[in-house]
Amino acid sequence: MPSPIIIAIDGHSACGKSTLARDLASRLGIHYLDSGALYRAVCLYCLDLGIHPEDRHAVIHNLDGLEIQISLGDYLKVMNNGQEVTERIRLPEVTRWVSEISVVPEVRRKVNEILRRIGKQQSLVMDGRDIGTVVFPDASVKFFLTADKMVRAQRRQNELQSMGREISLEKVLENLEHRDTIDSTREDSPLRCAEDAVLIDNTLLDRSEQLELAMSYIRLISS
Ligand code: DC
Repeated sequence: MPSPIIIAIDGHSACGKSTLARDLASRLGIHYLDSGALYRAVCLYCLDLGIHPEDRHAVIHNLDGLEIQISLGDYLKVMNNGQEVTERIRLPEVTRWVSEISVVPEVRRKVNEILRRIGKQQSLVMDGRDIGTVVFPDASVKFFLTADKMVRAQRRQNELQSMGREISLEKVLENLEHRDTIDSTREDSPLRCAEDAVLIDNTLLDRSEQLELAMSYIRLISS
């Protein structure tokens, strides 16, 4: 059996990683795995237990009590200790605290084990912050996405509005900046562009232009 192909997409919060990842997975006929969902699952688990996400000791102490299961299909289904949490991991409270949870090395180790196990079994498009640098440094293709901050905030606000959530642009921008700072400055696996990643700035690209640009690169390196 040929070894699985991993396409890694890293970048800042809300810069279109999941859109590109989903589009590429569908074009290539492989699954998409959103690695952030696993950090969100850990964050939700802590919040459900009443643990403050900045209480690192309590987070680490309770980590073994969590079993995360995921299933890849038309959508990513996430279970915490047998209970489906697919929707709850998107709650604003989780979005607020997930970066604080993801700085904890023990959390990263737990999530990475799951990601690597799945990546060994099947070809995937995976998005996150450290996929091309740490989780799969040998990924077949690596993209690093970026976009203008205001454009990212506007896109995220539109996405939230389409889910019926009204939130001011200032608040969205504040959350993005907060997460960017924590994700890029943490000690363990900070967000950075891998040396062999292709940088895509999608500020002025629409969804299909972004997909075609990424596909043209994939064709180039596989020819
Ligand atoms: O992609 P997202 O916004 O759902 O990710 C949630 C958080 O998880 C994000 O703030 C940083 C963290 N994360 C990470 O540290 N490493 C990854 N590979 C994916 C996400």
